[in-house]
Amino acid sequence: MAFLRNAWYVACWSEDVRPGQLFHRKLLDEDVVLFRKPDGAPAALYDRCPHRFIPLHLGSLKGEVIECCYHGLQFDCSGRCVKNPHGDGKIPAAAKVRSYPVADRHGILWIWMGEREADASRIPDYAMLDADSGFHLTRGHVHIEANYVLMGENLLDLSHVAYLHDGLIGSPQMVETLPAVREDNDVLHVDRHMPNVDVPAVFDMLFRQDGQPVDAWQNMRWVPPSCYLLDAGVKAPGGEREVMGWYYGIHLLTPETSRTTHYHFASARPPGSVSDPATDAELARLRRIAFAEQDKPIVDAQQRVVGDQDLWGMKPVLLAIDAGPVRMRRTIERLITQEKETT
Ligand code: FES
Ligand SMILES: [Fe+2]
Repeated sequence: MAFLRNAWYVACWSEDVRPGQLFHRKLLDEDVVLFRKPDGAPAALYDRCPHRFIPLHLGSLKGEVIECCYHGLQFDCSGRCVKNPHGDGKIPAAAKVRSYPVADRHGILWIWMGEREADASRIPDYAMLDADSGFHLTRGHVHIEANYVLMGENLLDLSHVAYLHDGLIGSPQMVETLPAVREDNDVLHVDRHMPNVDVPAVFDMLFRQDGQPVDAWQNMRWVPPSCYLLDAGVKAPGGEREVMGWYYGIHLLTPETSRTTHYHFASARPPGSVSDPATDAELARLRRIAFAEQDKPIVDAQQRVVGDQDLWGMKPVLLAIDAGPVRMRRTIERLITQEKETT
């Protein structure tokens, strides 16, 4: 499946790109080098010198310019070659590299790899990740050896928590709830309300630590092509939402190649919830287990079976729980088709 190109993708966490350093990542099958200008503003270039195709991230950052490590051509943050140290110093017209719009927002470096003009107002809202939001945050990253749509289907069908994450972030009775799916301008909402279920360990730790049954919910928002926001929590059966019983799960997928994905995840607990370093560390540890040790092996294995085949061509059995994943897959296919027709 091709990628939707005219969209904002997560390149990395803001903190991944440190002053004075060059950060390489493959995104949408293109090698990209990210760095910061002296004023801290981020920049991104195609990671390939046009002379002999050396990755630019192997060079060095000199103020605002990258110097290629092989023969010293220098490129500014717009990709223009600004110095040729050889001969008369003339700069050939072809000595330039592609630059990408980037935005530093919500502690995330967003990148726009399409040909159309980047519109920063289309960056999905993750204000809870802002440093001044008052939310208590944990962050992580895991490399998935599967296509981002397969990983996204995992996130839009959370019935799997009853099996894959049983006891950790899910419990057996949760399987009885079907999702409510609604769509709003290509943004998908997949909500699950699960009354009177065993409390999973993560939520028991945050909520009452008494092991008593709870009402649980999972409300997932998907913004195409690959940004997810989960409002998940538990409350006393029949009771009201309490501040310590819930958090936002932030799930951000970026295709690396057609078969691999950068998966950035974070949790954001609301202001007023109990936060101490030990709880934060334990929450981060348990969530990493869920995604890196429980989801990842399954989705990686799924990719090995699917290979390059079209999923519809494989005639998957469809269940009621697939409503969200099917809508997502159809929406991505439509948006990619529309993009191709208009470019
Ligand atoms: S390969 Fe970069 S300057 Fe020669
Ligand atoms: Fe999962």
